[in-house]
Amino acid sequence: SKTQHQYNFVVKEARYTRLCSTKSILTVNGEFPGPVISAHQGDTVYVNVYNRGTHNITLHWHGVKQPRNPWTDGPEYITQCPIKPGEKFRQKILFSREEGTLWWHAHSDWSRATVHGAIIIYPRKHRTYPFPRPYAEVPIIFGEWWKNDVWKVYTEFRRTGGSPNNSDAITINGQPGDLYPCSNSGTFKLNVDQGKTYLLRIVNAAMNLILFFSISKHNLTVVGADGCYTKPLTRDYIAISPGQTIDALLYANQEPDQYYMAARAYSSGAAVPFDNTTTTAILQYNGNYPPISSPPLPYLPYYNDTQAAFNFFGSLRGLPKRYPKSIPFNATTHIETTLSVNTFPCPKGQTCEGPNGTRFAASINNINFVASSIDILEAYYYHIKGVYSKGFPIFPPFLFNFTAQYLPLELQIPKKGTKAIVLKYGSVVELVFQGTNLVGGIDHPMHLHGYSFHVVGYGFGNFNKAKDPLQYNLLDPPLLNTVVVPKNGWATIRFKATNPGVWLMHCHLERHLSWGMETVFIVKNGKGWNETLLPPPPDMPRC
Ligand code: C2O
Repeated sequence: SKTQHQYNFVVKEARYTRLCSTKSILTVNGEFPGPVISAHQGDTVYVNVYNRGTHNITLHWHGVKQPRNPWTDGPEYITQCPIKPGEKFRQKILFSREEGTLWWHAHSDWSRATVHGAIIIYPRKHRTYPFPRPYAEVPIIFGEWWKNDVWKVYTEFRRTGGSPNNSDAITINGQPGDLYPCSNSGTFKLNVDQGKTYLLRIVNAAMNLILFFSISKHNLTVVGADGCYTKPLTRDYIAISPGQTIDALLYANQEPDQYYMAARAYSSGAAVPFDNTTTTAILQYNGNYPPISSPPLPYLPYYNDTQAAFNFFGSLRGLPKRYPKSIPFNATTHIETTLSVNTFPCPKGQTCEGPNGTRFAASINNINFVASSIDILEAYYYHIKGVYSKGFPIFPPFLFNFTAQYLPLELQIPKKGTKAIVLKYGSVVELVFQGTNLVGGIDHPMHLHGYSFHVVGYGFGNFNKAKDPLQYNLLDPPLLNTVVVPKNGWATIRFKATNPGVWLMHCHLERHLSWGMETVFIVKNGKGWNETLLPPPPDMPRC
């Protein structure tokens, strides 16, 4: 477990060849996926970010709580202004309670498609994993590859208001794998010794795809998720949403041979076109054995198998004895949110490619989030007026049958706003996410910055205030930073607001984020000396 306390991240273009063609992509240090950051729990790491690209950029440390220090959290126009081409920002990463696998990624436009990498957090010195020490550890990073320039894909769908183009491949560690054209020579290979145990540090860095993943003839034993340990869960496949990370043990206990590992998309969204292709990598046992020509593909649930997806998500259990803090029992702040895909009418004189000639939008409680021109954190800290307003609605503005098949058309149009939810320091928040069937429902992987939360319940259909809370798991809920809210269903999370600052919450499907499915929490300072926001670093980028 070698770790270092300072990294230089040079954001720059590099030429990469995939799917029979070569293009320039944005990278960190020319690497795709980008460099791994490793640390021990409790460490402080500095990353010097140099923007040598041609667009503004910011970098975010996904799942790192950054206690009292949102200044270097990264989301563009939320906690900082972007780093302009030619400029530099020294970002401090404070590892406090997280342990296991997290990741970092760009947090402006769609550059995270290629600008991302794993974060590995080892236990504190003299502490051990809550499972037998693996023989070796291997990052497995899922991504998506577009043959086209990602900046063009992004600007095009922003211009037309339609759906973004699908990616042309799903990738494992940057490689599409054997089932795609011109890809065999690069296919990721994991060499193992029979009888040994491997820790897979799995990251879903894909832009818009929840994925199923499995390995032929092998089980995976999940031992951690989102930088927190879990009770061991042994399965023949896993499901993982964009934003989520999973630590899983792989026992190399089969006949020495070659086996495929494979991932493909899960999507419950009926009308949403998606990538139905499969990415593969090879698990290869070391030793001498007769080579086989084509190893069989592993079992993967069907692309729209919602049961299979939620059977996995719903089976994750926390490991209370390793929890940093106990499960909050009595909520002081109740928040109910609706998550909707919406539309705006097409402006006169334009052609729009959303449903029936509209523009796509998305909202939380019918508020379509509009980015401000300077970041909300600085506006809050320096009392700059007119950047955002308080009073984001903490209940849906209308009561409707959220999951009915046909919903009134007038519900489809959201209100624009840059509004924040203000929380008192120490509030115990219980937040219900309710997916709606507007413009056809779909699952939403909801992510909160600055916190891990307990997922105490989820279900299908409309949330029932009287009955559903009776079923909450307050014993061993998983502690996550991204929860998948089922299509036309709901999920409830709890967290204690003890990290002051400005923290973004959003859907981690990139197109939904781009369409405005996001809001911010402003958590006020507490009274204690260690309950207040730290001062900004001297080199905050200027707008
Ligand atoms: Cu993975 Cu707002 O981030």
